[in-house]
Amino acid sequence: MIIVKAGGSAITHKSEPYSPNESTIASVAEQLSQTSRSDGGMILVHGVGSFGHPLAKEHDLGHGYDGTEEGLMGAMFTHYWVDELSQRFIKAIIDHGVPALRCRPTTSFVTKSRRIVDFYSEPIGKYLEMGIVPVFHGDVPADRDQGFSVLSSDQIAVFLARHFGARKVIFGMDVPGLLREGETVPELGFGAIPEFMEFVSDNNDASGGLQKKLQEIQALEGSGIEVRLIGLGEPGALLRAIEGEVVGTLIR
Ligand SMILES: Nc1ncnc2c1ncn2[C@@H]1O[C@H](COP(=O)(O)OP(=O)(O)OP(=O)(O)O)[C@@H](O)[C@H]1O
Ligand SMILES: [Mg+2]
Repeated sequence: MIIVKAGGSAITHKSEPYSPNESTIASVAEQLSQTSRSDGGMILVHGVGSFGHPLAKEHDLGHGYDGTEEGLMGAMFTHYWVDELSQRFIKAIIDHGVPALRCRPTTSFVTKSRRIVDFYSEPIGKYLEMGIVPVFHGDVPADRDQGFSVLSSDQIAVFLARHFGARKVIFGMDVPGLLREGETVPELGFGAIPEFMEFVSDNNDASGGLQKKLQEIQALEGSGIEVRLIGLGEPGALLRAIEGEVVGTLIR
C-alpha cells in the first residue's frame, strides 16, 4: 500500500486565503484515476494550505484550547474551512471515478502534546479492503494535554505509513522536490536530513513547514518505507512516482 500526501502548497494558492488550486486538484484527480490501487490500496492525506494555516496562526491554535470562547470558535472555523477544502478535493476525485472517502481526523485521532497517541483504525482497514481510498487532512483533534492540537497532515501521513505498513509515502508540493541552491536533489539518505536543514527556509506555517515535514519523514529511518517528494503541479509526476519511476527527490 502507498500513502500520497497532497501538499497544501500545491492544492491551494497559499498566499491567497481560501483559494483552491483548481488545475492541480483536477490533475491529481485525473492521475489517481489512472492508478490500479491493487497493491494493498492507497490512503490520501492532504494539506490545508490557505484554508488552514492562516486561521490556525491567527487563533494561536498550536497551543490548544486556551479556555476562551474565542479560542474555541477559532478552532471550529479552522476545522470548517479545512473541511470545505477537503470536500472540494474529494468531489474532483470521485468525479473521476475514484472511490475516495472523507475520514475525519477529529474523530479518528487523539494526540498528547501534539503527537498522535491513539487512532481508531478499524473502519480505515475495512475501507482499504473494499478498495476505497480513505482521505485525511491536517486538523484540530482532541489532545490529552491541551484540549486540542494542530495536527499536521505530514504527521498523519507518516503515522499511517507505519500503521498500515506502507511501502512508500509520496509528498506532493508546489516545488519539484527538495531544492539545494535551486536544483532538485535526486536522492538523500534519511541520515542526511539534519545536514540538509541548512537549505530549508521557514515559511512560518502553523504546523512548521518543510522543516517539520522533514523531521516527520526522518522518523521513518530504518522502517524500510521509502519517501518521495515531488512537484504536484508537474504533469504526470504523481503517476510516475506511484509507478516507481524516477521523479523529484527520493529519501531512503
Ligand atoms: N530547500 C527547499 N526545498 C524545497 N522547498 C523548500 C525549501 N526550503 C523551503 N521550501 C519551501 O517549502 C515549501 C513546502 O512546504 P509547505 O509546508 O509550504 O508545503 P506543504 O506541506 O505542501 O503545504 P501544507 O503544509 O499546507 O500541506 C515549498 O513551497 C518551498 O517554498
Ligand atoms: Mg507543510
